[in-house]
Parts: sequence; structure tokens; C-alpha cells
Amino acid sequence: MSGSEIYSPGLEGVIAGETAISAIVDGLSYRGYPVTELAEKATYDEVAYLLLHGELPTRRQLADFQQRVAAARRIPEPFRALLKALPASTVPMDALRSAVSILAHFDPDSQDSSPAANLRKSERLLGQIPVIVAEQYRLSKGLAVVPARADLGHAANFLYMLRGTPPSPLHARAFDVSLILYAEHEFNASTFTARVVVSTESDLHAGVTAAIGALKGRLHGGANEKVMDLLLQAGGPDTAEQWIRAALARKEKVMGFGHRVYKTGDVRAQVLKEYARQAAQAAGQTQWETTAEIIEGVLAREKNLFPNLDWPAGRLYHALGLELPLYTPFFVAARVTGWCAHIIEQLGHNRLMRPRARYTGPALRSVVPLPERG
Ligand SMILES: CC(C)(COP(=O)(O)OP(=O)(O)OC[C@H]1O[C@@H](n2cnc3c(N)ncnc32)[C@H](O)[C@@H]1OP(=O)(O)O)[C@@H](O)C(=O)NCCC(=O)NCCS
Repeated sequence: MSGSEIYSPGLEGVIAGETAISAIVDGLSYRGYPVTELAEKATYDEVAYLLLHGELPTRRQLADFQQRVAAARRIPEPFRALLKALPASTVPMDALRSAVSILAHFDPDSQDSSPAANLRKSERLLGQIPVIVAEQYRLSKGLAVVPARADLGHAANFLYMLRGTPPSPLHARAFDVSLILYAEHEFNASTFTARVVVSTESDLHAGVTAAIGALKGRLHGGANEKVMDLLLQAGGPDTAEQWIRAALARKEKVMGFGHRVYKTGDVRAQVLKEYARQAAQAAGQTQWETTAEIIEGVLAREKNLFPNLDWPAGRLYHALGLELPLYTPFFVAARVTGWCAHIIEQLGHNRLMRPRARYTGPALRSVVPLPERG
């Protein structure tokens, strides 16, 4: 290696490319708009358009976009047979990873990686992913699938397809805000994975499939499922402090806390906490909010660690009555817009991602032929 090469395990602090999609400067912004304002004044549908098309939509642009996405909210019949063929034990995140890969074969633009075709594929995936999650979930429970409704927005439709009844305005808005906050986050591990894959001039579905694989791990998207596991293990407000102190003494990582970039708190977590609280109140389940407050206090005082977005998201989804293995697929459904925007951007000014490694193996040596090795 030459002296000018930089060694940074985990690529910490490395600027690996340029992006115009989001910035982590004084909080988080998507295409220049603070995420806090988007969560207050926009819907996920508008944010998805913003990420994919670069600007917030006019009413007309939004209506056309929603129509295109709605047209994609169905899956090819032979594909449904494949979903049905999955073993009942298949976890939703694995089913989704396989499903997105297989959907590529049915996409009319599968062999076209032009920017226009990639946009069409992105919009189709945006529509298809909630359908896959909802159908695989319902099929695995022996329930009939519920087709999307034309009068519901993206988030409300997703809840409707899962549960079979239209959500309350509070549930729809809380879920919508969670999707807005999950939609995009610069060069996180899964987005970077997608960019690495397409930097070889591979296709969009390959990038998204790989990104889903990267998101699954508990250090990334998998954390939102583990958060609720953790709270259930903590038991409730009476046992929370003792439980978290014992977990810290065992040197366990506490899911939903800490972040590679945010070291003093994640603004997204503060926004979603309020929705988690409202949903918990509506469900009569405030014990998990109180338990969370106690754990937050201990981690701030003892470890200077603060919640990330997964911390309130896990609680919100639980308060909405949704099952734990669906939480990381919700993250996928939101982040697919960010991934696709990055894939299109990467291909727009591509440079093959090919870092170097610092070698730590044996010094150069000669091969001893097998008969002489004993
Ligand atoms: C996200 C995460 C991987 C970032 O890690 P990172 O940037 O590599 O941070 P580091 O591992 O350098 O952490 C610095 C210190 O804080 C500790 N720490 C970080 N996150 C922690 C957590 N969630 N629980 C307990 N300790 C934690 C580390 O053990 C380390 O302690 P040390 O200096 O005594 O070894 C890490 O915070 C984590 O594992 N969090 C839990 C999983 C999670 O919520 N993921 C979703 C992220 S959005």
C-alpha cells in the first residue's frame, strides 16, 4: 500500500462518494428539506416522489405518481404460487429478499437499466413490496389476501392489506411518519451495499435484493424487531432498571441505542417518540413507554448513549398491534425509495467501488506438493 492510502475499519469517517439525496448536517434533510418538516407537513407518498424525482410533487404530479404506484400494487399470479410454496417458518424478511429477486423476472424493464427504466422499476417496487409483505404474512397464517384500496394512501393501504380493516387516522398517520423517517439516510450500510452492487453496472433489482440482505442484520434494520424483544424481556416499569443494569453488566449491546454518525441523539427518534406515545395511549399499553423512559435514562447517564429511530419504531409498531417479524420489512418498504434514488444516482456518475484491504495473513511462502505434506 502507498503511504497516501487510508485505513479505516468499517469505513468510519470515509467519504466514499457524493450525493444530492440527503445530508446529515444539523440533523437530517432529504433533498434540502429537514426531515422534521417533512414529517410534519408531508406524507410518505410525497416524500417517496421527492426522493425519486428530486422535487416535492405538485398535486397533479402526486396524483399521477400515486396512480402508477397503485397500478403496481398487485403481484403476478405465478409469483403468488411461489410465495405460497415457501415453508410456513420462513421469516418475512427472508421471504421479501427472495421475492424482490424473483420479481425481477416479471418486470417488463428487467433488461433495461436506463434512468427512465430504473425510475419505472423503482415505482413498481414501491407498490409491490407492501403487497408482498402483506400477502406472505396473511398466507402464512392461512388468511385470505386483501387487495389494496384505491382511496387509501400508501401507509394506510399497507396497514389495510395486512389487517383487512382500514386503519384509524391516528394509526395511518403514525405509520406514515415512520415510513417518512425510515425513507432515506445517506450512505448507511444497506444503501452503500446497493451502490456497491450497481457500481459494477449490475441491475436495480440486484442492488435492492442485496440491500435487503444488509438491512436484515440487528446492527442495522433488524434492530427495530429486537427493540420490542428487549422491552418484553425487561418486563415492565418495575423491573426495567434492574434488567438494563444487568444487561449492561453483561456487556450486551442494547438494540435501538447508539449510532455510527449520531453521537448525541437522533432527531428522527425524537419525532417518532411522540407518535409511539399517542399510539400506546390509544392501545392502553403505556407500560412500554414508561419502561422505555427508564431504560433511556440509565443509558444516557451510564453510557452517554441515546436512542436511534429503531427505539420508538419498535414500540410504535407494537402499539399498532403488528407482529414483530414484520418490523424490518416495514423499514424495507420505506427505504426502497432511498435505495432506488441512490442506485439511479450512482449509475448517473458511476465509479466502480473497489477498496483495498490491509493484509494480515502469512508472509509469502512456497506451495509444498500434497504427497510431501503428509
Ligand atoms: C449502531 C452501532 C452499530 C454503531 O456502532 P459504532 O459506531 O461502531 O459505535 P461503537 O461500537 O464505536 O460504540 C462506541 C462505544 O459505545 C458502545 N455502544 C455503542 N452502541 C451501544 C449499544 N447499543 N449498547 C451498548 N453499548 C453500545 C460500544 O460498545 C463502544 O463501547 P466501548 O468504547 O467501551 O467499546 C451500535 O451503536 C449498535 O450496535 N447499536 C445497537 C443496534 C442498533 O440499534 N442499530 C440500529 C442503528 S440505526
